[in-house]
Amino acid sequence: MIIVNFKTYESAIGENAVALAKIHEVVAKETGAEIAVAVNALDLEKVATAVKIPVFAQHVDAAGFGSFTGSIPPALVKKMGAAGTLLNHSEKRLDEKLAECVTAAKAAGLKVVVCAEDDTEAEKIAAELQPDFVAVEPPELIGGEVSVTNANPEIVENSVKKVGATPLLVGAGVKNSEDVKIALKLGAKGVLLASGVTKAENPTDVLRDLASGLLDN
Ligand code: G3P
Repeated sequence: MIIVNFKTYESAIGENAVALAKIHEVVAKETGAEIAVAVNALDLEKVATAVKIPVFAQHVDAAGFGSFTGSIPPALVKKMGAAGTLLNHSEKRLDEKLAECVTAAKAAGLKVVVCAEDDTEAEKIAAELQPDFVAVEPPELIGGEVSVTNANPEIVENSVKKVGATPLLVGAGVKNSEDVKIALKLGAKGVLLASGVTKAENPTDVLRDLASGLLDN
């Protein structure tokens, strides 16, 4: 599984989000790789209408319909066509609100990917919240040139052991098929990445390469 987080990169918001998601769809179709995109809430409906690959929100709140000014209700995200949501990304930490957000997202029928900053947090999240995936991303490597799989393979191995049956994704600095292969070899089920695709000159080539890392394994 490859999830590309569009964040708010200019190359990946508004009409660019739709165009970039379509590229992901083409590569998913031609390679057979499981590829999903996590888009800004403002682009979610547009993107989910335009492509058939899974579209994730980057965050939801524990909000229903009614008196929730400024919130992102999971049920609305679901209605707009999202398959799931990221939660607790290191750029959108939820701290004491995490459990209620996970509960609300699950209740709306969303797949839940909860991010953790290290293996200790990953263990706690897997045990207490049982998300569909835990995604471990060391914050200091996010947006950088060195992949977590090279800089800190131990965190991947330790996380795999500590999350038990919960599938693990890893991210931060992931750029190519080699990074994906190492992640899978260490026991992860896939990767979560952003800049490797959103800042690429040729996202199609990057995605094909990433997909080959998933499929060659
Ligand atoms: O959510 C994915 C992200 O935080 C990793 O970012 O740019 O290091 O792939 P990047």
